[in-house]
Amino acid sequence: MRPKVFVSRIIPDAGLDRVRAACEADIWLGEMPPPYDTLCERVRGVDGLLCTLNDRIDAGLMEAAGSQLKVISQMAVGYDNIDVAAAKTRGIQIGNTPGVLTDATADLAFALLLAAARRLMEGIEYIKGGQWKTWQPKALLGGDLTGATLGIIGLGRIGKAVARRAAGFEMRILAHSPSCSPQEAAKVGATLVDMEMLLRESDYVSLHVPLNSQTRGLINRETLTLMKPTAVLVNTTRGPVVDQQALYEALTQGIIGGAALDVTDPEPLPADHPLLELPNVIIVPHIGSATHRTRDKMATMAADNLIAGVMGQPLPNPVWT
Ligand code: GLV
Repeated sequence: MRPKVFVSRIIPDAGLDRVRAACEADIWLGEMPPPYDTLCERVRGVDGLLCTLNDRIDAGLMEAAGSQLKVISQMAVGYDNIDVAAAKTRGIQIGNTPGVLTDATADLAFALLLAAARRLMEGIEYIKGGQWKTWQPKALLGGDLTGATLGIIGLGRIGKAVARRAAGFEMRILAHSPSCSPQEAAKVGATLVDMEMLLRESDYVSLHVPLNSQTRGLINRETLTLMKPTAVLVNTTRGPVVDQQALYEALTQGIIGGAALDVTDPEPLPADHPLLELPNVIIVPHIGSATHRTRDKMATMAADNLIAGVMGQPLPNPVWT
């Protein structure tokens, strides 16, 4: 009998076709993710679950699934929505999709950085609002990238890819990343410094740490106060790494100059959220990995993790080994 799996969203065919070929697949067809209770019902009796960062995967859900559940395959690199300890206790393997989304996410971080530096959103609004009457010597002036300092918090795969892009723009690159050696940082043109120096000296700060108990609220009132009043914060990791209320206050009180966010807390951000009113804020809807090629690769990788797991084999990309 083919293994039974539940797939919590319609993922690209590159992955879905593999899942369908190898498993008896129940696929959630809704545009919105399944509510938690529905998810608990649909996973009952399955051998594997392919999920996304929208799904809360906790001990209750694992209990509801039953002791035959062998694998949880997340179609994302981050897996803060999954209770890893609960899975380990039950001998459930977890897979994710690292590596394939590095460049797409670094590109988006850089797109946000450039858009904020050069005030692209304000420029677009300026035209749409009928303000473009002539070329203006002093309108919409932004910041240069060349020679400016970029502070990268978290010099892992994505942080390094951002550093490589910054080197092309001739930026000075500082990084804070306790698990990275100075030699490794130097390979991407970055100098390791402590968090305080990074925040004090950077014109742009880009976040690339996973969300966990140490990084939740890492950017808060205190850390924001260390930043330059002109500095721009870029966040492409997870919303709760930033204390959003403190960010709002910092932006409205001139403590920092701007923010460019791909991730918020909560997600989705309500359309009437006060952050969206601010001219010095750019927000896009968690699209870091959203390119055709990257999403195909993520779907394929998630399918391969799922299939290996239900077959009782080691996962190609396990969260732990
Ligand atoms: C997206 O945010 C991911 O973690 O892959």
